[in-house]
Amino acid sequence: MKDVTILSIETSCDETSAAVVINGRDVRSNMIYSQIDIHKKFGGVVPEVASRNHVEKISQVVDEALDEANMTFDDIDGIAVTYGPGLVGALLVGVSYAKGLCYTLDKPLIPVNHIEGHICANFIAHKELEPPFISLVVSGGHTHIVYVKDYGVYEILGKTRDDAAGEAFDKVARSMGLGYPGGPLIDKLAKEGNPEAIDFPRVHLEKDSLDFSFSGIKSAVLNYLNQQKQKNLEIIPKDVAASFQKSVVEVIAKKVIRAAEQVGVKTIVLAGGVAANSGLRLEFEEQLKNSDINFLYPPIILCTDNAAMIGSAGYFEYKNSRFADQTLNAISNLKLGE
Ligand code: KG4
Ligand code: ZN
Repeated sequence: MKDVTILSIETSCDETSAAVVINGRDVRSNMIYSQIDIHKKFGGVVPEVASRNHVEKISQVVDEALDEANMTFDDIDGIAVTYGPGLVGALLVGVSYAKGLCYTLDKPLIPVNHIEGHICANFIAHKELEPPFISLVVSGGHTHIVYVKDYGVYEILGKTRDDAAGEAFDKVARSMGLGYPGGPLIDKLAKEGNPEAIDFPRVHLEKDSLDFSFSGIKSAVLNYLNQQKQKNLEIIPKDVAASFQKSVVEVIAKKVIRAAEQVGVKTIVLAGGVAANSGLRLEFEEQLKNSDINFLYPPIILCTDNAAMIGSAGYFEYKNSRFADQTLNAISNLKLGE
């Protein structure tokens, strides 16, 4: 069978990225221009600033992706682009650019859901991985337990009812004065702290529910910090970080493993920025010690936002002939499976 070469574009948040991916698993280039340093001084992503920087970088990043792959537009079979979920202005930069390229070059336009992209990062990292499996998608915007029944066929088994896990990490980090993005900073601090030091709540919701709620844990940390200050008691940041992280990852791992057992699949894969968390990885390994369930996660560069994962998802969409025309729009609250 002929190889399928996809050029992919990702601009849903604060990374401008373009990649060339063959057959969904073979990454020839993955250029990522991160705006994190620009947004740091605001303590979070400023949507207008993100859009403007995407506009400035997009054509350079796409050219670099082709150069790095040693290819030209002639070698490309289709152009995949993230059209949601994400910041609408940021998404529109990628969508408009991809539409322009497809129109000029007469190539198929492949719309990709960002969450699906995160899941597909695992097809790049684990060449032998095939559905069915359970994927936990944990990022700054999402916390979903997804049953991947087949390529491109998803069922959501559980999701957060309030904050995403990454959002909780970022907000707690901000209240501790650690900076942005908070996840990696808490992760680092937590490595030296005692996870048993402070008893933050474990929020399980109703019995058997696979949904999550993180706003309570976040508030519990804020209350703890305020109370310690009011009572003039010492705050040990590494213990706060370790205890908070433990309360989040313990519940996540338990629910994801229960989901896998319920549907009877033997593989769990992590995806999204928070999948980079070392405490989360260790927690899964610990809880799966005596289990025959396989546990996989991508390297950190494929956990956070990147276009290679969009190129992988784009390949499976291409195989299913799911194309878009020039009316494609950015959908900021796009759901998986729509
Ligand atoms: O997937 P991603 O790059 O963007 C979204 O689609 O949201 O995820 C970014 C999120 C941020 O909330 C960041 O704090 C979190 O992932 N994150 C981490 C770690 N690395 C990134 N959270 C916990 N531990 C980490 N090591
Ligand atoms: Zn993401």
